Amino acid sequence: MTIKEVGKMEKLIVEGGVPLDGEVEISGAKNAALPLITATLLCAGRYRLKNVPDLRDTRTMLRLMEHLGITCERDGKDLEIDTTNLNSAEAPYELVKTMRASVLVLGPLLARTGVARISLPGGCAIGARPINYHLSGFEQLGVKCSLENGYIEAKAENRLKGNVVYFDMPSVTATENLLMAATLARGTTIIKNAAKEPEIGNLIDMLTLMGADIEGKNTDLLTVHGRDNLTSCEVEIIPDRIEAGTYLIGIAATGGQGGVKNCIPEHLPSLIEKMRGAGILVEVQDRAIMVDARECCKKGFKEVDITTMPYPGYPTDLQAQFMALMTLANGVSVIHETIFENRFMHVAELQRMGASISIDGRRAMISGKGLKGLTGAPVMATDLRASSSLVIAGLAASGMTEIARIYHLERGYESMVEKLAGLGADIARVRPDSS
Ligand code: EPZ
Repeated sequence: MTIKEVGKMEKLIVEGGVPLDGEVEISGAKNAALPLITATLLCAGRYRLKNVPDLRDTRTMLRLMEHLGITCERDGKDLEIDTTNLNSAEAPYELVKTMRASVLVLGPLLARTGVARISLPGGCAIGARPINYHLSGFEQLGVKCSLENGYIEAKAENRLKGNVVYFDMPSVTATENLLMAATLARGTTIIKNAAKEPEIGNLIDMLTLMGADIEGKNTDLLTVHGRDNLTSCEVEIIPDRIEAGTYLIGIAATGGQGGVKNCIPEHLPSLIEKMRGAGILVEVQDRAIMVDARECCKKGFKEVDITTMPYPGYPTDLQAQFMALMTLANGVSVIHETIFENRFMHVAELQRMGASISIDGRRAMISGKGLKGLTGAPVMATDLRASSSLVIAGLAASGMTEIARIYHLERGYESMVEKLAGLGADIARVRPDSS
């Protein structure tokens, strides 16, 4: 689905029990596109970003960019961005409340203009998600931050000054924000305990193309030698490893075979291990991953424990999807969510479909009921990844599942209904008033 925003009332109707079969083309990564779009703010010029997914979140980010005076033109899968006429340094509440990643304009605006005013992102369904690491990192670079009327007022009297920044936890967007700010600071910045997700590698590639001097890509110690100037560039967005993982788990959960094309298998080490642990055949090819669960379906999936961790550990953004698979396993599995304190919102909905799951703090214990463990039911999406786990459960369940609040899904999955239908899924988007 492109352009037309999904109405609040739209639902997905999934008729389960059809083994998925075939290959899906993976789109560009949401969590790379967002920081790479904001990186264009660092210096005036025309940029071309290639392979940008058309999602609710990327559209929100483009609206924020336009609010700052930036022109953004779509050209098929690419975006032309012109940041010459930057005329504002404010990210308004109306936009930030719909997407926390708006905080990623802070670093580039401070580096380029010395000021930024952004609405403080509130909590979200999966956790409190404070931005204290971002703000204390900027203060290390000489920025004064204060909170007024729900807005962060950030100001640097002089040019940002390189310094040592340490994160208690390897925060993805805090690493991205400080990285971008440090590229134009005076002197050297060292980021310790930095996150090393592949999306950060994509950002470092872009900043390097713009003339930045960064050492330590793909490690938790980043050194940025500040530059006086940067230039615009052309860059490609990496494939979405979370979208790829979602389809692989979906194909397996239905006892199907097939896979994902245009993905980078090296970005999914832990998922590949865990799927093999469940007894699923996983074949890694060049820029593709194939799975075959037909054999495994005869004996049933083995129970596998998961502990979510920063990259290269098991991604929290694939936790809910794997839980849906484990509801179909032969035994008891434990999922330990270590990144977000409230990321089990999908459990109650999976229980409505007949799953047996108990929660103890940040651990969920899933007593698998075997392949026929789920039955279709009306359920409600609560956040982006929880919604994709309900789609997977609906595809594996017997009978019909009706998923409400699918606008969550459209935030991070491009053309999911069409892609699943291409794999033989019986799925449709409906408007309640469309008889
Ligand atoms: C990024 O969020 C992703 N979003 C999330 O994906 C992903 O779940 C998360 O990283 C973890 O992998 C984008 O890239 C746009 P964090 P981010 O800062 O950067 C705590 C999806 O589904 N923390 O790495 O916001 C925080 O509360 C989304 O696509 C602080 O305490 O996550 C959390 O417990 C959901 N203070 C932990 O660190 C801070 O200043 C890791 O969060 C920052 C973070």
